[in-house]
Amino acid sequence: MFVKILPPEVRSRIAAGEVIESPTDVVKELVENSLDAKATRVEVEIHKGGKRLIRVQDNGTGIHPEDIEKVILQGTTSKIENEEDLLKITTYGFRGEALHSISSVSKFTLRSRYFQEKEGWEIRVEGGKPLGKEKVGMPVGTEVEVRELFYNLPVRKKFLKKEDTERRKILELIKEYALVNPEVEFILFAEGKEKLNLKRSSLKKRVEELFETPVEELSEEREGVRLRTFIARNQRQGKYYLFINSRPVQNKNLKEYLRKAFGYKTLVVLFAEMPPFMVDFNVHPKKKEVKIMKERKFLELIRELAGRKREFVEIPKLSQSTATYESTYEILGQLNNTIILVKSGEYLYFIDQHLLDERINYEKTGDENVACRISVKAGEKLSEEKIKEMIKAWRNLENPHVCPHGRPIYYRLPLREIYEKLGRQLS
Ligand SMILES: Nc1ncnc2c1ncn2[C@@H]1O[C@H](COP(=O)(O)OP(=O)(O)O)[C@@H](O)[C@H]1O
Ligand SMILES: [Mg+2]
Repeated sequence: MFVKILPPEVRSRIAAGEVIESPTDVVKELVENSLDAKATRVEVEIHKGGKRLIRVQDNGTGIHPEDIEKVILQGTTSKIENEEDLLKITTYGFRGEALHSISSVSKFTLRSRYFQEKEGWEIRVEGGKPLGKEKVGMPVGTEVEVRELFYNLPVRKKFLKKEDTERRKILELIKEYALVNPEVEFILFAEGKEKLNLKRSSLKKRVEELFETPVEELSEEREGVRLRTFIARNQRQGKYYLFINSRPVQNKNLKEYLRKAFGYKTLVVLFAEMPPFMVDFNVHPKKKEVKIMKERKFLELIRELAGRKREFVEIPKLSQSTATYESTYEILGQLNNTIILVKSGEYLYFIDQHLLDERINYEKTGDENVACRISVKAGEKLSEEKIKEMIKAWRNLENPHVCPHGRPIYYRLPLREIYEKLGRQLS
């Protein structure tokens, strides 16, 4: 039906070597298969950190009865047919290697009911040997059970990480897939306990649910690249997540770039969508590295987004047709000769005078060291004129949020919150 055996040259081109090294790898492959099969619900169960059992159940399209025995053969995939297809891949899988590898090193059961069929089929495989095929009653979708991973590869088994470590990695992994697939329900049971139960949701709500904090959305689209970014400032610790075309990307340089652009104490969850030919995930299938065409343009777009002065803009009332987008602000003073207090829009801003001046000078000179040296210091008494000049400059900065090293320039409190604490309503 839909699966084809890839020619050997394609097989050797894509991913050589072992695919599965740990329970987390198994969960990753099975969850990706479920998502590729358009599931809207994915349930994962693990025992002993996945060493004893991994079970992944989905409500996707299922596997056609004619294909069910083929899918565990090496290089069997329904996702691509030839090398050219590699350039336009939109699915997670395409190597046709995962089920083959997993079923060779475990006690493996696959049950699946194709969406046009009345019943499902089950196959059992042990260490790569098929043990039989039989009909089963089940809902549309697929269920895979992997028991005793590496039971026939004692060396690999010996080097497995601790159960706790695997469990934590699996939880993290599922959270990552949950982030990029908010329209999918995810459930995770570990050692019989429910660890995750995420209902279908919007992207913003899913981010807020997983990180337990309200976030602000910044979006931009240009030349086929679409960025959706969710940020929360003034966190105890900065966190940086990057997804390109729904895949988590671990790239130290890109993450460092996000840290500098958005600030050390910011949670940043950035989703980038671009045409498949612009990114190459095949460089390092497992290390989650990517190669991006026009990377410089991509970084520029991120930098612009990070510097966006959205919160300064007050939308003019409809009746005031002559109003400009310039919002008003009020300088309230200097605290401890270190922090400038400003009310702007709906917020009270506490601005670090050194970091602000450093940012201003950095944008003028382009040199971090010079900027640091010539800027006003903390503890320095500033004239009213100087403060006015700095605040004016602040509002025209390319990035008014963080200093050149990524430290936040200000902390702000919503006036509404202050009023609420005092038992008053802000009119
Ligand atoms: N959960 C699933 N739902 C539907 N089809 C599946 C599922 N898991 C695997 N398959 C089918 O089995 C094939 C082989 O899976 P796999 O070994 O992971 O290779 P790949 O995902 O690279 O194609 C897939 O191409 C797909 O046709
Ligand atoms: Mg796969």
